[in-house]
Amino acid sequence: MSKKIQICEVGPRDGFQSIKCAQIPTEQKIEIIEELLASGVKHMEFTSFVSPKAIPQMADAAEVTRAVLARHPDTDLFALVPNLRGASNAYELGLRKVCYVVSLSASHNKANINRTHEQSLDAYKEIRATYPDMDVIVDLATTFGCPFEGKYNDPAAVVAFLKDYVDAGMTEVCLCDTIGIADPAQVKAVISAVKDAYPSLRLAVHFHDTRGLGMVNTLTAMEAGVDEIQSTLGGLGGCPFAPGASGNLATEDAVWMLNEMGYDTGISFSKILAAAKHEKELIEGNYSGHHISIENETPCRA
Ligand code: COA
Ligand code: ZN
Repeated sequence: MSKKIQICEVGPRDGFQSIKCAQIPTEQKIEIIEELLASGVKHMEFTSFVSPKAIPQMADAAEVTRAVLARHPDTDLFALVPNLRGASNAYELGLRKVCYVVSLSASHNKANINRTHEQSLDAYKEIRATYPDMDVIVDLATTFGCPFEGKYNDPAAVVAFLKDYVDAGMTEVCLCDTIGIADPAQVKAVISAVKDAYPSLRLAVHFHDTRGLGMVNTLTAMEAGVDEIQSTLGGLGGCPFAPGASGNLATEDAVWMLNEMGYDTGISFSKILAAAKHEKELIEGNYSGHHISIENETPCRA
């Protein structure tokens, strides 16, 4: 029997938001999303409902949602939200799943969403109370380290931070390595600690590839028992409020490795590679600084 792992594509949010010098036309975003879905992607964070002043690239979230949701009502599609306003906008458009972002680092939380930890927890509870029929998963940004505070080495601090959210009803969290600072030993320690403390919590991981460790950290997390891994088409990505943040684990690389290892990813490598190449053509010129592994037919880096 083949092994299973859920791959969640987050490029249309984390990838596109990192393109600052040009607005990607909405039709092109939709085109790429459609290609991802046609490749077999079944789980996708496809936009974010955030302040257009904070992230101008995401200003067309409503148009993207209208176009995509109507065509794929049965696909696991969700959007990132930073506050009740974002959740309301998503809900009004028919979305019933959002991802609420909070950073383990107080300073990154302030830089990213202009909130204290207490304010973030209050806003999470407010969203849950306002939309009880909405699935609100949590992205824990800077789980492994912060651009302002450095690397973390205390898995117990992650467990302690999550307690208020678990008590407030959180059923799923994504542990995000926002700046690509994690190492495999740390990944194993953090995931083991979180699983021991909250055995029924659904776990996802999200690694950036700053030091080339996106894949090994992801594989380590899988071995430690996570339910979902996140990646972006072409490895495009990075939080604009995390200085030095670079691209994510590339979806086409992850798909190739996992398919070769006998996992049933449900994603066609040749189709996802074609989608990555197409994405690169569409936004060529704005890719500088991002890891992209699609120069050749093979996903291997030279
Ligand atoms: N969607 C659209 N607009 C929003 C919004 C939302 N979810 N939330 C707030 N706004 C608007 C407000 O109406 C206001 O507009 P105005 O100045 O024209 O009146 C402006 O954005 C600022 O709102 P305010 O409530 O004062 O928020 P803030 O300035 O403290 O910023 C956030 C807080 C959360 C809205 C902002 O920091 C943000 O959107 N961050 C997202 C960052 C992100 O996406 N990072 C990458 C992903 S991890
Ligand atoms: Zn990210």
